[in-house]
Amino acid sequence: MKEIRVFCPATIANISCGFDVLGVALQSVGDEMIIQKVAQKGIRITKLTGQNLPTETHLNVAGVAGLALLAESDYEGGFEIEIHKKIKAGSGIGSSAASSTGAVWAMNALLGSPFSKLQLVKFAMEGERLASGVAHADNVAPALFGGFTLVRSYAPLDIVPIPSPPQLWATVIHPQIEVRTSDSRKILKTNITLADGIKQWGNLGGLVAGLFTEDYDLIGRSLIDHIVEPIRSILIPGFDKVKSVSMETGALGCGISGSGPSIFAFSKGEENARNVARAMKEVYTKIGIDYDVHVSKVNVEGIREI
Ligand code: HSE
Repeated sequence: MKEIRVFCPATIANISCGFDVLGVALQSVGDEMIIQKVAQKGIRITKLTGQNLPTETHLNVAGVAGLALLAESDYEGGFEIEIHKKIKAGSGIGSSAASSTGAVWAMNALLGSPFSKLQLVKFAMEGERLASGVAHADNVAPALFGGFTLVRSYAPLDIVPIPSPPQLWATVIHPQIEVRTSDSRKILKTNITLADGIKQWGNLGGLVAGLFTEDYDLIGRSLIDHIVEPIRSILIPGFDKVKSVSMETGALGCGISGSGPSIFAFSKGEENARNVARAMKEVYTKIGIDYDVHVSKVNVEGIREI
């Protein structure tokens, strides 16, 4: 096989109580990439559509993630990468993660799969380091593994796949403002109080337990962020209103998707998720900010060949 075309899913990171450790892959939105094995050494981004992003290998997240893989490989040739962005950069649904993981997943497939998924996560994290200054894994892990993933530990890297309850649906609204992950990380405090820690890890444990036992009420009760949301939500116009109308419409929970400005809600069943989408849209229509909305099941497969 010389060429492969892949779908690289969007992802929701943090999921309220799991800052930098929890993420989930989405079904209905993602990028497409075409990766070709070529004789010429190195990596070249030959085409990039949909977004205005750098195509120089060292400045492109797919290029950097790919170089991290090549550095560990004995393959003598190179790769050419086409990236067709459907996920907007700076939207908070894992745009950089989709490109980074798409590159390393496809390169690995074209090389006969010498690397494990865990190794691919490490390579893709280099793309995240370029994008945000921090090599966080909470978007790249679910994109590669599919479904929900928990980063139990960063050193050593330990990723735990978590099952997805069959009726869990996500609604994501992206108000058309850009929030750079690097900026929204700078405003966070580096210390938390023990009291906030107790509340946060209680919810994180509750959310993971709820996902394993398909307990939708427990999932809902656990979708609370005492640490990051109170600070970051200030950057997102209309956040409190979107959250309150989502909860009134029957969402299980609602919070910031990744570093924002996208806002996500989880619902039980597609109909509820679509009702939440309507309620969210009304808020931004009234405020006068354009938006994109995605209603999606959990993508349990992750990146796939198309
Ligand atoms: N955990 C990361 C953050 C996710 O919140 O900064 C970025 O998508």
